[in-house]
Amino acid sequence: MTDPLLIAKTSDASLTDLMLLPNMANRHGLIAGATGTGKTVSLQVLAEHFSSIGVPVFMADVKGDLTGISQPGKDNPRVVERAKLLKLELAPAACPVTLWDVFGEQGHPVRATISEMGPVLLARIFNLNDTQSGVLALAFKIADDKGLLLLDLKDLRALLAYVGENASQFTTDYGNVSPASIGAIQRGLLTLEQQGGDKFFGEPALVLDDLMQTVDGKGVINILAADKLLSSPRLYSTFLLWMLSELFENLPEVGDRDKPKLVFFFDEAHLLFNEAPKELLEKIEQVVRLVRSKGIGIYFVTQNPLDIPDTVLGQLGNRVQHALRAYTPRDQKAVNAAAETFRTNPKLDITKVITELAVGEALVSFLDDKGRPTIVERAYICPPNSQIGPITAAQRSALLAGSLVAGQYEKTVDRESAFEKLKGRRGNEATPAVPGESVGFGSIFGKIGDALNGSGNSRRETVVQSAVKSATLAMASEAGRRIIRGVLGSIFGGRK
Ligand SMILES: Nc1ncnc2c1ncn2[C@@H]1O[C@H](COP(=O)(O)OP(=O)(O)OP(=O)(O)O)[C@@H](O)[C@H]1O
Ligand SMILES: [Mg+2]
Repeated sequence: MTDPLLIAKTSDASLTDLMLLPNMANRHGLIAGATGTGKTVSLQVLAEHFSSIGVPVFMADVKGDLTGISQPGKDNPRVVERAKLLKLELAPAACPVTLWDVFGEQGHPVRATISEMGPVLLARIFNLNDTQSGVLALAFKIADDKGLLLLDLKDLRALLAYVGENASQFTTDYGNVSPASIGAIQRGLLTLEQQGGDKFFGEPALVLDDLMQTVDGKGVINILAADKLLSSPRLYSTFLLWMLSELFENLPEVGDRDKPKLVFFFDEAHLLFNEAPKELLEKIEQVVRLVRSKGIGIYFVTQNPLDIPDTVLGQLGNRVQHALRAYTPRDQKAVNAAAETFRTNPKLDITKVITELAVGEALVSFLDDKGRPTIVERAYICPPNSQIGPITAAQRSALLAGSLVAGQYEKTVDRESAFEKLKGRRGNEATPAVPGESVGFGSIFGKIGDALNGSGNSRRETVVQSAVKSATLAMASEAGRRIIRGVLGSIFGGRK
């Protein structure tokens, strides 16, 4: 069994160790607290520990203050003071880090194809109503039936124009395709483009195995620059949702493991649930529940525990509750709600303590080896061993140049897809690309990653990987398109 992780010590004289059990780390968690109470540092401490036992981590860096985890801690007075208080020896250490950025500026570009994203999530990004979403789903179906590959936004735009131009024919064959709905989707697409979303769609698309790497036995911490992404909250939340669903769909069931395969931190978690329609909420709840058995732990980070729906909150076993303010009735409600979720401790008046906690102090309850929540304790979170706060531009460049995926995602590949095909249809008939020997691969992510990841990091491989992936998509389009559509559909469209 992997050793327990020392995350905090009780605030009383006993300084009792509070341990997070690695085999319970996939039972998810919550880090909550008002602004400035220590959430980010707690996240950092958890992430450091996961990395130290070889568990890769994915986190979105909303304020740009997480990258310090890539550098050993320096003489931060608050860290030194905390170590002294808890009678801990500081051991400054850095974690291996891969930086990612949807916009390709502060990290390696992260891309997905339109096809992978699927109509349901795109409808959310475009903020479509039910009727419009229905038409988008129809357009996807038409693309599937016609073997049109949807990789980037121009493919989708070409498809929409094609469907619009032939609306009356498709209405007969597929159902009502109203020009107004097509117009609404096109407007959504334009807005997304203006927000820079066009950078996100295309190839080479992200290979999930690239998120699950170790270096010298330490789990790689994947940091997604999210400061800019956050100004498009819908894109931000949908993107993370998509990642979760991809992980969920593509990883095998693993049952109980001695430690998770990957831990996913979801900062500003309220954005995931804000304005989400009931149906989507149910699906999120479902993914969170089921992804556990794939060895994935999800940790939500948020200011107010009330931001998270009860059905999800109830699944978050490992909890770090920092101070909450109690100025308004809503604040008071949050305090009560947070208090109610803990297993009570006769020595603690939780609702009172919650408003009195110092910075970096929290009410802590982790799951015991039977999966039961332990009695809540008032505790100081351990100091991190890595640097608190952001890194310099030079440090960032060094990380990018030295990362495991350096050069793999930087250059976009523009293969023949719907855009070219539809253009060809108007002029000369274009011959479809033949994917060649790549077709032999069955699983989109797993096998490709296994086969190629071990053998170096040249860009050619990524092109091959991405070609294989596209070929698989194309095959799915031609033979049993369910494979791909069904994948997201099984979560986001109901299991067939
Ligand atoms: N466990 C800890 N050990 C040492 N110092 C800490 C600890 N937790 C918090 N601090 C100190 O408190 C500061 C604020 O903490 P942090 O940035 O984690 O708050 P936050 O809740 O994430 O705030 P925000 O809501 O603004 O993001 C840190 O920069 C650090 O100096
Ligand atoms: Mg923070």
